[in-house]
Amino acid sequence: MANPSILILPGDGIGAEVMVEVRKIIDWYGANRDLSFDVSEDLVGGSAYDKHGVPLHDDTMAHAQEVDAVLLGAVGGPAYDDLDFSVKPERGLLRLRKEMDLFANLRPAQCFDALADFSSLKKDIVSGLDIMIVRELTSGVYFGEPRGIFEEGNERVGINTQRYTESEIDRAARAAFELARKRNNKVCSMEKANVMESGILWREVVTKVHQADYADVQLSHMYADNGAMQLVRAPKQFDVILTDNLFGDILSDCAAMLTGSLGMLPSASLGAPMANGRPKALYEPVHGSAPDIAGQGKANPIACILSFAMALRYSFDQGDEATRLENAVEKVLADGARTGDLMGPEDGTPLSTSQMGDAIVEALSASL
Ligand code: IPM
Ligand code: MG
Repeated sequence: MANPSILILPGDGIGAEVMVEVRKIIDWYGANRDLSFDVSEDLVGGSAYDKHGVPLHDDTMAHAQEVDAVLLGAVGGPAYDDLDFSVKPERGLLRLRKEMDLFANLRPAQCFDALADFSSLKKDIVSGLDIMIVRELTSGVYFGEPRGIFEEGNERVGINTQRYTESEIDRAARAAFELARKRNNKVCSMEKANVMESGILWREVVTKVHQADYADVQLSHMYADNGAMQLVRAPKQFDVILTDNLFGDILSDCAAMLTGSLGMLPSASLGAPMANGRPKALYEPVHGSAPDIAGQGKANPIACILSFAMALRYSFDQGDEATRLENAVEKVLADGARTGDLMGPEDGTPLSTSQMGDAIVEALSASL
């Protein structure tokens, strides 16, 4: 049988350097676990714009539709701030999500014991934290029409539209309930049903799906602003959080920081199953392109490496190998390995991006 295929899109800023470390991990699996992948690489975001004048070339889009999984680094940077909106680096990523129809964005926030002291919250509030945000990713205000900046009388008006169909809510809800069953069986759905009709419909559909097919899962509802507050007050009350595209964007950055650093959080964006049974899938760290530290070997590669662990689990049915990789990350952190984002100013010399990658590879080898 042919090896599973992976398309790597490092993108911009620190995307390239963290992806180098992921390739070390991929190579390790080929050499040590009889798990080889056909890896190809291409451009997205500003780097694609520099070469093609668009943030995602049609050929790259077509290739992304064919592979078993896409791994993406990060997009964007100050060099592209003044570009026309339609060719901004972010449009490349949004096109991938939309055209691959990756409606379920899984963003786990786990606090590793070794980092509990480093969180900006008190240790007992975050230690042992393990929550999963399921963010709807292909609809809502990110894509709703009408949108644009229009003339209105003697001034301009900026318009975006929050729009959700019942079937869009339904499929996101099912993804959350299915995940909850494999975890602690709890879903908290977040919207603003107190001020938005789309939130009223969201709550209705989630309740209906729950009653029809997932009554065994514990379901609660929360307004998203309260959800943000509860996330920093008592985050361990949550298991799976189900929410829309924009609230999910905001709440997941908030949840990320509970774990100590944005440099730790992976994500999986999943769509419907393909002919081979694997879901359409794109994996990316939650962090951005961090232009301020790009190219200096300071970036933390863990979020990107843990995104590959999610690929092992959700695309390649290699849950044990995913756990092996997650354990290797936990081990190096427990041993004190730290990139700069995980240290205070007085904590000594941080590891470089590649030293962190090497340490994780070493821990993988030690696990055999
Ligand atoms: C994210 C990012 C993206 C988003 C940007 C880069 C378009 O913030 O994945 O959370 O807003 O979805
Ligand atoms: Mg975001």
